[in-house]
Amino acid sequence: MLSQESITNIVTKNRYNYHLSEIIRQRAWVEIDLDALSHNVRQIRQLLSPKTALMAVVKADAYGHGAIAVAQTVLQAGATALAVATLGEGIELREAGITVPILILGAINTPEEIAAVAHWHLEPTLCYPEQAVMVSQTLSRYEKPLPVHLKLDTGMSRLGIPWHQGREFASLVKELPYLTLSSVYSHLATADDPDLTNMYRQYQYFKRAIAQLKTQSIQPPRLHLANSAATLIDPRLHYDLVRVGLALYGLYSAPHLRSIVPLKPVLQVKAKITQIKTIPAQTGVSYGYQFVSDRPMTLGVVGIGYADGVPRNLSNRLQVLIHGQRARQIGAITMDQLMLDVSHLRHLQVGDVVTLIGKDGDHEITADDWAKMLGTISWEILCGFKHRLPRIKHRNPGDIFPNVQDRKENCEQVKT
Ligand SMILES: Cc1ncc(COP(=O)(O)O)c(C=O)c1O
Repeated sequence: MLSQESITNIVTKNRYNYHLSEIIRQRAWVEIDLDALSHNVRQIRQLLSPKTALMAVVKADAYGHGAIAVAQTVLQAGATALAVATLGEGIELREAGITVPILILGAINTPEEIAAVAHWHLEPTLCYPEQAVMVSQTLSRYEKPLPVHLKLDTGMSRLGIPWHQGREFASLVKELPYLTLSSVYSHLATADDPDLTNMYRQYQYFKRAIAQLKTQSIQPPRLHLANSAATLIDPRLHYDLVRVGLALYGLYSAPHLRSIVPLKPVLQVKAKITQIKTIPAQTGVSYGYQFVSDRPMTLGVVGIGYADGVPRNLSNRLQVLIHGQRARQIGAITMDQLMLDVSHLRHLQVGDVVTLIGKDGDHEITADDWAKMLGTISWEILCGFKHRLPRIKHRNPGDIFPNVQDRKENCEQVKT
């Protein structure tokens, strides 16, 4: 319950922000370190020549980090264009007042969508002739030209015209009214693989397709191919711009890329202890009794669960950090809550902060750690945190914890 004093403070101008963030942090939340994000942009920019632009990939709500704040921050730090997957994601950024070019990477297949794309000054990807004709016809109704980006499939076997049909397709796009060819691009399937054979085959196909365009005197203003991994690996793949997602958020597409550039993870996931209790030996914990205590134990209940994006498959395997120490999660992770074995921690209190992903003291748990346990990739972990978790953006950790005393020194580990 909020005291009358806190309620008064919430509406008191000077202390508004602090108390609002306290309320948001009642249960569980995601912290977004905008300084780390800016650092990552600067690090990536240092890998690029001055004439190569950085397009920040902010689809899927900026990989779960919050698209608007991420877009504003990366643009200040040195990115000059954005990429999203869907029309709705593009509109969200425009409504927030963002005016830089925004490429829609996903499919746009209907006149209604194209009308909206044009209205919001977004830029679609063209992948096949019928789509290009539809886009041109729709735009002619509005008499509005639109920058378009032609996508070649060089080996991803996803969106895009097969690369060897690129010349014919580009000639058609060039002839169609109201289409302004803004770029030609392709996407790599295996740039994070230590064996680069397939990546370089795609690179060769891309080069051949571009050479074929030249024979028709088609010189696209911009060419682009590289995702995060290719941006880190080989400057020859940078072309006129790089489309970087994961590295912005401080993660590496594969472990062998770590040494190339120092990145800082941007996202942390935290929750609060909501109850502490002791249980006797032989007590089942959570649904299905997947865990039964073999001794008397102290349990910490935490207000976060699979409906927030903590996968139930991590039950009995997850570790968390509390006051700079590790604790293991026990029993099935439930929709809104999970349980910890905190028998080894003294002086724990309801309201103490648990770090699920992030740093506490000398310890760190990363999205890569979760991905490894789950047999998936860090991209999926980042995108998995649900909107029920408020995103708290800060420029340094002190911004959001101005009055909270560090209780670490009071929480020694029980010596056994
Ligand atoms: C077409 C395209 N380009 C670039 C990216 C960015 O990839 P990454 O997150 O590996 O940098 C993506 C992400 O999936 C993509 O689909």
